[in-house]
Amino acid sequence: MKPADVVRPLLRVHQVREFTDAPVDAEALDAIADAARWSGSSANIQPWRFVVIRDPGVLRQLADSGPPHTRSLTTAAAAVAIVLPQVKGAAVSNAFDEGRAAERMLIAASLLGLGAGIAWLPADARPAVGELLGLPDGRFVRTVVAIGHSTARASRPKSAKGEARLPRTETVFSERWETES
Ligand SMILES: Cc1cc2nc3c(=O)[nH]c(=O)nc-3n(C[C@H](O)[C@H](O)[C@H](O)COP(=O)(O)O)c2cc1C
Repeated sequence: MKPADVVRPLLRVHQVREFTDAPVDAEALDAIADAARWSGSSANIQPWRFVVIRDPGVLRQLADSGPPHTRSLTTAAAAVAIVLPQVKGAAVSNAFDEGRAAERMLIAASLLGLGAGIAWLPADARPAVGELLGLPDGRFVRTVVAIGHSTARASRPKSAKGEARLPRTETVFSERWETES
């Protein structure tokens, strides 16, 4: 198999924001959470904790906490909230580790034939969400990964073939930044 074919499953990972009523298997959620907790982190500190949510009432409250960014949680069958510590001086490093875990969950969901999407909660929703999820003091949630079975509409490509990202010539350079002549 060509290298491009080997990595193609990663290229197929995309944001899903609309889900069917079908439930998500508990084992699939465990596998997604494991993919997250095995992601790397700065100095292997593992700053994150993950709250797996299946309660429809809680999912809808999260959806209401920051529309339109949180709209995927309106139909999600499950979600994983990434909990971070509020540590001065580590915000960038923790955000990087958070992104690594979030993307891994999207990849894991895609490999399992599920859809997933990132929802960023607005900062002013943090206290209420902290209470909703029973977080200890000094912890907050910014990223929630919505998970479910994608609707046919959400599975359809949002752009023409090959146009969902900037062209490679504009984004990937060899040895030195290449300006257009
Ligand atoms: C840091 C970050 C925050 C994001 N926040 C949201 C969000 O709050 N709500 C949402 O619907 N999508 C969110 N997204 C998803 C992006 O909109 C999505 O990755 C982008 O549109 C590409 O979509 P595609 O992978 O389906 O092509 C976020 C993505 C990243 C990387």
